[in-house]
Amino acid sequence: MSKKIESLLVIGTGTMGAGIAQVAAAAGCEVSLYDTALDAAENARARIAASLARAKEKGYVEAADMEDTLARLHPVGTLESSREAGAVIEAVREDLQVKQEVFLQLENIVPPDTLLWTNTSMISITRIADPLRHPERVAGTHFFNPVPRMKLVEIIGGRRTDARTLEAAESAVRAWGKTPVRAPDTPGFIVNRLLDALLREALSLHEEGVEGRAIDEAVRLGLNFPMGPLELMDLVGLDTTRDCLVAQADGMGRELKCGESLLRLVKDGRLGRKSGRGFFDYPPQ
Ligand code: CAA
Ligand code: NAD
Repeated sequence: MSKKIESLLVIGTGTMGAGIAQVAAAAGCEVSLYDTALDAAENARARIAASLARAKEKGYVEAADMEDTLARLHPVGTLESSREAGAVIEAVREDLQVKQEVFLQLENIVPPDTLLWTNTSMISITRIADPLRHPERVAGTHFFNPVPRMKLVEIIGGRRTDARTLEAAESAVRAWGKTPVRAPDTPGFIVNRLLDALLREALSLHEEGVEGRAIDEAVRLGLNFPMGPLELMDLVGLDTTRDCLVAQADGMGRELKCGESLLRLVKDGRLGRKSGRGFFDYPPQ
């Protein structure tokens, strides 16, 4: 039987780290939150509290469950608390070197049986685990945004991942209310290999002069997608979208064609919903 995860450390408490922490805590897991940016872990807890309050109003969660979830979230100031965690999930920026550095640091702190999971969108698990002494405990657990709402988690093993690591990841995400699907360790796994093509073509159309709102409406009505590709990039975060397109081009060994409009928005600090402006504007709720 695979190891049950009762305590989790989430590293990187931005859009995804906060969502993952929320669903694990809601399912009864004690969750530590760690981020290198000042106050980011505390801010993530506050964002989760606000999101839970909205979810309560919509009838998704009960008031008592909301309090219990918040009581299980613990912002921490150092990685030392990872010693106690059964598993660590990193959700730092989509950059091979940054992710490898996080895991190399962790290997000097945690016991050899602590499971190390990555929420990478596109990057090979084999490559992330390559410099580690214990690559057998590394797996991809790829959650989708917004985490409380999206059912899927792709589970990805690298070349040297142990079968028990994958089983433990599957049973943890099931316990957190998600549906695991095993995906290959190829660039973008399953979903993002497809999404990458959609987003690149949407950016090309936009640069050819097609209105953003027209692209989105066409995709919503013509494909029955809940969101158009530009709104979706705003939801993901435009900096994260750019990093994902870069990582996917690198993984596929092809030239990057990222979209000038996207790069310009990121340069101007228009990062999508999280900054209040991206392709579209998002007034504070
Ligand atoms: N418990 C707690 N909160 C819950 C909840 C639950 N059981 N169920 C929903 N919520 C929360 C949501 O997280 C969200 O929180 P905020 O208010 O903080 O935003 C809120 O309730 C809205 O949920 P609704 O169900 O009311 O929202 P909606 O019906 O308006 O749909 C949407 C919004 C889910 C975003 C929908 O438009 C959608 O599905 N869009 C597409 C999303 C998508 O494609 N995501 C994948 C992105 S790509 C990716 O993630 C991969 C990558 O690597 C980049
Ligand atoms: P984000 O920019 O919202 O948050 C990243 C956080 O990591 C920031 O708070 C930053 O301060 C922190 N950080 C950076 N370096 C760190 C380090 N060395 N140690 C600790 N914290 C560090 O990013 P995000 O959108 O949540 O994406 C995180 C990961 O999840 C990426 O790999 C991304 O590709 C993946 N992902 C994103 C989405 C999405 O829709 N945004 C969906 C699925 C997967």
